[in-house]
Parts: sequence; C-alpha cells; structure tokens
Amino acid sequence: MGRVGRRLIPFVPSPKDVVEKMLDIASPAPDELLVDLGSGDGRIVLSASRKYKCWSIGIEKNPRLVELTRRKILSMGLDRVTVIRGDLYNYDFTNADVVTLYLLPDVLKKLYPKFVKMKKDTRIVSHDYGIPGLTPAEIYEVNSIETGKRHKIYLYILR
Ligand SMILES: C[S@@+](CC[C@H](N)C(=O)[O-])C[C@H]1O[C@@H](n2cnc3c(N)ncnc32)[C@H](O)[C@@H]1O
Repeated sequence: MGRVGRRLIPFVPSPKDVVEKMLDIASPAPDELLVDLGSGDGRIVLSASRKYKCWSIGIEKNPRLVELTRRKILSMGLDRVTVIRGDLYNYDFTNADVVTLYLLPDVLKKLYPKFVKMKKDTRIVSHDYGIPGLTPAEIYEVNSIETGKRHKIYLYILR
C-alpha cells in the first residue's frame, strides 16, 4: 500500500484489456523507455517489454509486489524490464519517453511539477484519472470485459 498524506493507495490492477489499450495508445518503440509509476504486479512493464520490445522500469513501494514482478521477469525471460523498490516521489523519471499511471488525482497533482519538466513529445498515459493542470491530447474509453465497466484512458503529449 502507498500513502498520500494519511490516505492509503491500494493495489488495484488495471484490467488486461485496459493495459493493452494503454500500450497501444503509447506504442513505445524498441529504443524507448517506458516507466510505470506505482507498477503493482508489473503487468504494464512486462507487457510493454514483451509486446513492444521497449525498455521498461516499474517503480513500486510494496515489497511483495516488487518480488512478484521480479519472479515474473525471470520466468518470462525478459531482459529489458526492471522493477525498482522505492517511492515514486523520489524517483527521477524525466528521461522516460512514455509514463504510465494508475494513481489517484491528488498523487497526479503532486507529480505535475515533474511532468512539466519532461522532454517534448513524452507521452503520458493515465488510467481513469486526468492530471490536474494538463490538457489531454485525447481521452479514450474502454469497455473492459474483465470488469464489465467503462474505463477512461487519458493521453498527454508534452509540448
Ligand atoms: C492502482 S495500483 C496500479 C498498478 C499498475 N500500475 C496497474 O495499472 O496495474 C497503484 C500502485 O501504486 C503503488 N504506489 C502507491 N504509492 C506509491 C509510491 N509513493 N511509490 C511507489 N509506489 C506506490 C501501490 O502500491 C500500487 O501497487
């Protein structure tokens, strides 16, 4: 569990069909770096490297989820994925080409000053929550078969 002030951020994974759409929107090239801030069980970084052959880094606070991701990396034989155990607020992700997020709006708000310092054309893809202060290039909707719900995906392209 993560914490915002006194509030806990639970591990709620993005459904697989939403992950697929997020990656389809970002379409990372093989020489690009994707960073998932709060990577949970690693499903985004693992899928990104397996399908798009890109470099990917997950940042995750929960040691159990970090271990789980590491086991999956080994069993899938992937060599372009890393998971770092740590606090996403302390991690410098400004060299990423793609950032993926499934975090609460107050966390996204805190991260805004870091997002605006990132290089031009960085794509930020955020599941369900928009980033306060940034205007999305596009908002997509996915009817997830897994959850039976409609999920939003916000795409930002930095200028
Ligand atoms: C809603 S889950 C999303 C997981 C994954 N990105 C996905 O879409 O399936 C949010 C994750 O962020 C992690 N998290 C929350 N606050 C964090 C922090 N300050 N630093 C690192 N990870 C954090 C939680 O432990 C949780 O695994």
